[in-house]
Amino acid sequence: MNQHLINQRISQANILYFRSQVFNQTEWMGVKAAKCPMDMWVYQELMVRLKTDLLIETGTWLGGSALFFAHIFDLMGQGRVITVDIEKQPDLPQHERIEYLHGSSLDDGIIQHMQAACDQARSVLVILDSDHRKAHKLAELKRYAPMVSPGSYLIAEDSCFDYYPAWPEFGAGPARAVREFMQSNTEFEIDRQQERHMLTFAPIGFLRKK
Ligand SMILES: C[S@@+](CC[C@H](N)C(=O)[O-])C[C@H]1O[C@@H](n2cnc3c(N)ncnc32)[C@H](O)[C@@H]1O
Repeated sequence: MNQHLINQRISQANILYFRSQVFNQTEWMGVKAAKCPMDMWVYQELMVRLKTDLLIETGTWLGGSALFFAHIFDLMGQGRVITVDIEKQPDLPQHERIEYLHGSSLDDGIIQHMQAACDQARSVLVILDSDHRKAHKLAELKRYAPMVSPGSYLIAEDSCFDYYPAWPEFGAGPARAVREFMQSNTEFEIDRQQERHMLTFAPIGFLRKK
């Protein structure tokens, strides 16, 4: 099969997977996590390989992804998660490695808190999974980029919306934000190797800091 046909099949598979909305029935330890399980697998690979000791997440939702990261840190014997959401959820899973923040991911106070935590960490991984509209994602990419440690990743989740596009009605989203961010940024490179399992909600979204 030629590469063009392979890419076409991968796009079709991702569109089918996303539009099934099965991510609404995806759980970690009984808590909903709106993730593609292939991405979860890659995240734990990166956390272990990079010896991540701080994972910053924007967009907590019900806390399933934060709990997953905390459990991986338990297995690693180090690390903590700081996660922020503009909405307050009543029954977030409690875990000593998770710190929940309430507010917008772009609030100055939130950013300062995250930055202070980064100053104490050796290896910082950032996952942007909040408001997926292009303007917000682009602003997050710019504000969170300095927090990522060299060799680690800034991940723009849900670029599948406007990349394949799995959700064309959404309009300008994370994929367009990543493209614009990369036009003027020389610190990061798009690492498509992290899409090797083929199903991903973050096509062109794994940005590796050089
Ligand atoms: C896709 S969900 C997050 C899913 C979660 N990370 C998971 O994997 O289960 C997006 C979340 O972003 C939150 N959100 C929207 N705008 C935000 C903002 N400006 N700052 C922080 N969180 C925001 C929403 O309230 C929602 O809970």
